[in-house]
Amino acid sequence: TPVTETTAKAVPVLPDAQTVTSVKHYTDRLFAFRVSRPASLRFRSGEFVMIGLMGDPHPETGKQRPLLRAYSIASPSWDDELEFYSIKVPDGPLTSKLQHIKVGDQIILKPKPVGTLVHDALLPGTRLYLFSTGTGFAPFASLLREPETYENFDEIVMTHTCRDVDELTYGRELIENLKSDEMMIELLGEENLAKIRYYPTTTREQSPKMGRITTLIENGELFADLGVPALDPAVDRAMVCGSLAFNLDIKALMEKAGLNEGANSEPGEFVIEKAFVG
Ligand code: A2P
Repeated sequence: TPVTETTAKAVPVLPDAQTVTSVKHYTDRLFAFRVSRPASLRFRSGEFVMIGLMGDPHPETGKQRPLLRAYSIASPSWDDELEFYSIKVPDGPLTSKLQHIKVGDQIILKPKPVGTLVHDALLPGTRLYLFSTGTGFAPFASLLREPETYENFDEIVMTHTCRDVDELTYGRELIENLKSDEMMIELLGEENLAKIRYYPTTTREQSPKMGRITTLIENGELFADLGVPALDPAVDRAMVCGSLAFNLDIKALMEKAGLNEGANSEPGEFVIEKAFVG
């Protein structure tokens, strides 16, 4: 007897759809979420992809277009899910919607990872500075969970500058978790994790360390606090991720110290990428 074929009813799904597996809100301006990872997606820790949602239907044609933005992947290359760390902009075309996603919802993810905040774009060195502001912490959340980061460097200085103390939580918790989670300790090694020097600063709310990191570099306070020599192109490397203005200011400081900007095609002493902003 012939087997009756079950007619699988086509469920409408988004193109390049991935499913949300967790969402955590940090402040009224910041949240992080995780989604399923396409089996075929390979990326290098520190890279970014385009993600988004379908936009509102066109008022006349009813046609919907995907609303996509560049987002750094905050999870490491070995993770079986993908993590993202995002700002919420009340009138932002994407983030005003994205901030409402729930577990089980779908987002669009274009599986074409790119970016310059990768080990391949840096020349060998001994001390790695990771300079971030706001959601610019995201690519470093990936790189801090990547074993290669610790194989390549003896010391990793992770700076994060935000307006308020609460905005540091995602980064602070991530680093605390690295040092206390047994799986992370086993993967990265206790001695390697001891290489991390976490340096959080705030600019508007009172905290133990205040000031823009650019100011703390210029006046030497960062180096005095860490007990390390001033920036030296022979040994120091840097990765930078923040707002456009921040990136430009840090770039000038790196170049003043004699560090040259690198790229995938030509590794250098520092690399820069703009954080997703709105
Ligand atoms: P500030 O409060 O002095 O503007 P934002 O939330 O606007 O993205 O800023 C994140 C953090 O980055 C804030 O602490 C902000 O300091 C700091 N910041 C903004 N622009 C620069 C810059 N050009 N150089 C250094 N830090 C900056």
